[in-house]
Amino acid sequence: MTTPQKIALVTGANKGIGKETARGLAALGTTVLIGARDAERGEAAAEELRADGADARFLPLDVTDESSVRAAAERIDAAFGRLDVLVNNAGIAVGHRRPSETSAATVREVYETNVFGVIAVTNAVLPLLRRSAAGRIVNMSSELGSLSHLSDPDGPWAPYTAVLLPYCTSKSALNAVTVLYANELRAEGILVNAVSPGYCATDLNRHSGVRTAGEGAAVAVALATVGEDGPTGALLTEDGPIPW
Ligand SMILES: NC(=O)c1ccc[n+]([C@@H]2O[C@H](COP(=O)([O-])OP(=O)(O)OC[C@H]3O[C@@H](n4cnc5c(N)ncnc54)[C@H](OP(=O)(O)O)[C@@H]3O)[C@@H](O)[C@H]2O)c1
Repeated sequence: MTTPQKIALVTGANKGIGKETARGLAALGTTVLIGARDAERGEAAAEELRADGADARFLPLDVTDESSVRAAAERIDAAFGRLDVLVNNAGIAVGHRRPSETSAATVREVYETNVFGVIAVTNAVLPLLRRSAAGRIVNMSSELGSLSHLSDPDGPWAPYTAVLLPYCTSKSALNAVTVLYANELRAEGILVNAVSPGYCATDLNRHSGVRTAGEGAAVAVALATVGEDGPTGALLTEDGPIPW
């Protein structure tokens, strides 16, 4: 039996842009699964959204833990039998140092969440997305992953990129991952895009961002619900595609 409303999983949805993406999807009538690695924080976020009328349910999910990822996919399968939307939002930004002072271990730590976690979660739920009539995958990327920006040493991004190798290159890798999944899944009608939410005030940047998390989430909600004629394999802000 299929459920009539859409089912969406947002990773790292207990706060920040992920929570606002879940809120935005729920406002469109979607059942949102609040992926979170901490039960208390995840349940609190789901409860907050439910208080606003959302059908929001906490789903235990640490994207760096294969058994947690597998268990999450099994729970979705048991409860719904399919998934319509996956928003790979969970991300970390640590290791604020110049490249020459950055350890490989720090890069590895960031990639575990920002890149390998995305691949693990995507592969685990792909069988469920394939059962959707309109599967959508949105990867939360950043303009800081754009090689065009990274290769401009005098551009407005330079002060950030000069001391953020783990994060910037993880998002560059995520962009490449996005393109390759888009290529594989195009013929099946599953659209896969990367989005950049802009510089939003969240815990990630100690609330130094200039936009709200809700403003940043809007582009993710738009791509998560885009029609079958929408883009795939693109990197988009709310104003449209930006250079890789
Ligand atoms: N803020 C910006 O300006 C900005 C700009 C461009 C892109 N982004 C991207 O937007 C996404 C959300 O960031 P944010 O700004 O909203 O930051 P945030 O408030 O720090 O939220 C990050 C979320 O990811 C979760 N997370 C981290 N590691 C996880 C793991 N191993 N498993 C599951 N969840 C995990 C966190 O959970 P815990 O609470 O348990 O730590 C939290 O829910 C990230 O991918 C980030 O790179 C942000």
